Amino acid sequence: MHLGRKTLSKFLIENVSGSRDGASLAALLVDVAAAVKAIAALSAKGALGGATGSLESVNVQGETQKPLDVLSNTAFVNTFQMGGLVAGVASEEMDEPFPIRAPYVRGPFLAVFDPLDGSSNIDANVSVGSIFSILHAPEQGEPQTADYLQPGQHQVAAGYALYGPATLLVLTVGRGTHGFTLDREVGNFILTHPNIQIPADTGEFAINTSNERFWEPPVTRYVSECKAGKTGPRERDFNMRWIASMVAEVHRILMRGGIFMYPRDTKDPGKPGRLRLLYEANPMGFVVEQAGGRASTGRERILDLAPTQVHQRVPVILGSRNEVDRLVRYHAEYDAGTDKPYESPLFSERGLYRP
Ligand code: AHG
Ligand code: MN
Ligand code: MN
Repeated sequence: MHLGRKTLSKFLIENVSGSRDGASLAALLVDVAAAVKAIAALSAKGALGGATGSLESVNVQGETQKPLDVLSNTAFVNTFQMGGLVAGVASEEMDEPFPIRAPYVRGPFLAVFDPLDGSSNIDANVSVGSIFSILHAPEQGEPQTADYLQPGQHQVAAGYALYGPATLLVLTVGRGTHGFTLDREVGNFILTHPNIQIPADTGEFAINTSNERFWEPPVTRYVSECKAGKTGPRERDFNMRWIASMVAEVHRILMRGGIFMYPRDTKDPGKPGRLRLLYEANPMGFVVEQAGGRASTGRERILDLAPTQVHQRVPVILGSRNEVDRLVRYHAEYDAGTDKPYESPLFSERGLYRP
């Protein structure tokens, strides 16, 4: 029991209900928490829940869906539809946004979400998550696709749930980033991580290095320098992590610092990045900035981007302030033709492996 500790509901009443549509926003975030509890219970059943393996279906991104992708999407859609607090929803797992129609009641917000992030990890029992972003809905009428295409800086609230050894809900309404841990027996989210601050410096980087041959030179330079460690220009050793669940990587960065990169690459020229702007990059960018970190494409602040499509992809570089700033500087130097690519001494003129 956590008597005397702050529940999510109490936190929302104290911190959210006073602002514009605040009481509705607080109620909507309680709905998000309800969907998250349902998904936490489903994912914790693992193979016993019969929701492992893959489906025949492919989503609008061309990705094969997992049963839990679909079940998690349904959990969010049903919760929002019954809740009366949103006018429409858009999701990674739905081709088009979905307007709330009678007999259901429309509310003042739009909810955009990635119902299950890192779903390739499900069958290996590695942490997965959900990501959500709340926007204002148009004042009148049924929302149109264009109504969802708001820059990230207009988000009213955003956050993620992490289904790990513990289930956590981390969110921001623009006044800091706060983390709540699910007390499973009681069913309450308890404020365990108030005012999270990402350390400005880090010795840890996260990137899928199997894509190295497709990276741009500033990213290659940055990662080469990290890998060179004490013997390179950074003069200290770095550690590397790659979980392939963005939620788990971002949470680690919130807890102890780090930089996460899914940068622009040339793997598929039609896709300027892997991650989606509206329901991955924007909400995570908001959470990270509110915790004192940075979120950039390498060339622009993520939250400044003007979206053009619901499922648009963008390069994502986020985390500890000084490291993200450094990599943004490397992009600027590269674009200006003034960069100095790192050359490993092992391969240089007098190097060990010089061909
Ligand atoms: P999703 O499961 O929602 O499609 O997202 C997976 C994302 C993200 O969580 C992760 O950082 C990245 O894809 C992993 O991509 P790779 O498999 O290319 O490493
Ligand atoms: Mn995802
Ligand atoms: Mn997903």
